[in-house]
Amino acid sequence: MSLLFGLLTPELDRSGFACGEPALDAYLHKQAGQDMKRGFATVVAACESSSPAVIVGYYTLCAASILLTALPEETARKMSRYPAVPAIRLGRLAVSTAMQGQHIGSLLVLDAVRRAWRNELAWAAFLVDAKNERAAAFYEKFLFQRFRENTLTLWMHRKQAGALIAALG
Ligand SMILES: CC(C)(COP(=O)(O)OP(=O)(O)OC[C@H]1O[C@@H](n2cnc3c(N)ncnc32)[C@H](O)[C@@H]1OP(=O)(O)O)[C@@H](O)C(=O)NCCC(=O)NCCS
Repeated sequence: MSLLFGLLTPELDRSGFACGEPALDAYLHKQAGQDMKRGFATVVAACESSSPAVIVGYYTLCAASILLTALPEETARKMSRYPAVPAIRLGRLAVSTAMQGQHIGSLLVLDAVRRAWRNELAWAAFLVDAKNERAAAFYEKFLFQRFRENTLTLWMHRKQAGALIAALG
């Protein structure tokens, strides 16, 4: 299977997308376009090259920040002494039900990390919001770590993101 990753555009068919999580479906059907226009999220869609208008998965990215005090003490000690750490947030991630289990979710996560890495905007941490424990376990496979206080938001240091890209190409 060959996938194309690109920004969400009006030509792409969002209405048929279903991933088993109604909130994530409704977001793509009704809100994603508005969020792009208003600067609330970058929405990236994956389509099969054989059906380039049909969305098989998507994710959202936006700028974020986290308090230095939210990071594990040892990591925080090595960071600059600013109260907040600039970050990128992968807020939503979904793969259509029919296509789940074929590593599209993994490829979307990698595309998100790569896209953030290429961006000239400064960031020191990459955050992911997991919807539930199962999703958190999915992110842990990429070595994202849980915060002490909010266990469904996970994060990765910029250096680890670079190592992930170097390892997986
Ligand atoms: C979670 C989701 C994005 C994963 O996408 P996917 O394409 O099915 O996942 P992949 O095929 O890349 O799976 C990669 C690995 O994670 C595991 N995995 C997949 N979905 C998982 C889940 N929900 N929880 C825990 N592990 C999961 C797979 O078993 C696989 O492990 P393996 O490499 O050891 O075989 C997809 O199942 C989905 O859209 N679910 C509904 C929406 C949702 O829950 N989104 C969570 C984002 S907060």
